[in-house]
Amino acid sequence: MSKIDKISRESWIMSTFPEWGTWLNEEIENEEVKPGTVAMWWLGCTGIWFKTPGGCNISVDLWCGNGKRTHGDGRMKVGHQMANMCGARAMQPNLRAVPFVIDPFAVKQVDAVLATHYHQDHMSAEYAAHVIKSGLTTVDENGKEIPVPFIGPKKSVELWQKWGVPADRCITVKPGDSIKIKDVEIIALDSFDRTCIVTTDSQGPDREELTGKCPTDMDDKAVNYLIKTPGGNIYHSGDSHYSIYFAKHGKDYDVDVAFGSYGENPVGMADKMTSCDILRMAEALRCKVVIPIHYDVWTNFMADVNEIKVLYDMKKDRLEYGFHPFFWEVGGKYVYPTDQEKRAYHHRRGFEDCFEAPQNIPFRSLL
Ligand SMILES: [Fe+2]
Repeated sequence: MSKIDKISRESWIMSTFPEWGTWLNEEIENEEVKPGTVAMWWLGCTGIWFKTPGGCNISVDLWCGNGKRTHGDGRMKVGHQMANMCGARAMQPNLRAVPFVIDPFAVKQVDAVLATHYHQDHMSAEYAAHVIKSGLTTVDENGKEIPVPFIGPKKSVELWQKWGVPADRCITVKPGDSIKIKDVEIIALDSFDRTCIVTTDSQGPDREELTGKCPTDMDDKAVNYLIKTPGGNIYHSGDSHYSIYFAKHGKDYDVDVAFGSYGENPVGMADKMTSCDILRMAEALRCKVVIPIHYDVWTNFMADVNEIKVLYDMKKDRLEYGFHPFFWEVGGKYVYPTDQEKRAYHHRRGFEDCFEAPQNIPFRSLL
């Protein structure tokens, strides 16, 4: 058979997808986290992988899906949260803009699966299936082997269970709750995700009517997390919008690194924090480093992090900022506090061993 005879659409997809294969899985497995540090990898959107010196692996918002893949009928469902918010009916052109950097089915060790909320770009049925079917385990506070828990607010737990995750594998958290796993303590905090507030259970013509209602179920729908690690306290704000209550979280807890969902909101939409909001959040949380995330993933919300840098440089002296921003790349590693002084990430460039083996070139002056 010729090469062409062997090729099909399926063979192309299997040989190309996920784009990074198991490269990042291997990197995480092989990472030896030094005492007093925490290693983190950006999985895209708000997905972060944490690994600690005590061998605690935690994923937050690991998601393996994508957005639009066809123009379809060009319409958005009447009860979709974006339709609820702004009264639009035309399809949102949210195509996935970043590659898949992790293979959820190749994960060999994870100690807890966390979700900040139940929107589709923050939870993964594929990953849940792998964790359940492959029988991954962790240890409890007494060192006893237990199945890996799924941790999230009530609505996330309901979704996991709808997918088939057993109820006894799920831990429902609300603001104030604390869970200890190996050398990590996870504290659930208030979310300020107002897009979640206008998300209804049913979409379509029978959507729940929100007009005139004062919703009180934010804590059931979404949480933020403070992840206390031997390397510092990491604040994951999920898809929170800007809130003055970040200042309370900043007073209640020492925050070293804060992740904020940044994006260029289309006209008629307020879903992501702006550059100004990211700086205000960092200032309020009194963190040392702020890292924008989420702006990478949707084609219609992509944003330029240099806008944060320009505003930061304008404001830092007058407002005496005690933090600086760090600009990451999807698939990249950030170790805290080792990388604390870094301002931007670049993927490894390679060729470190240049000229250490014989060359094979016609003559040296070619170079
Ligand atoms: Fe999101």
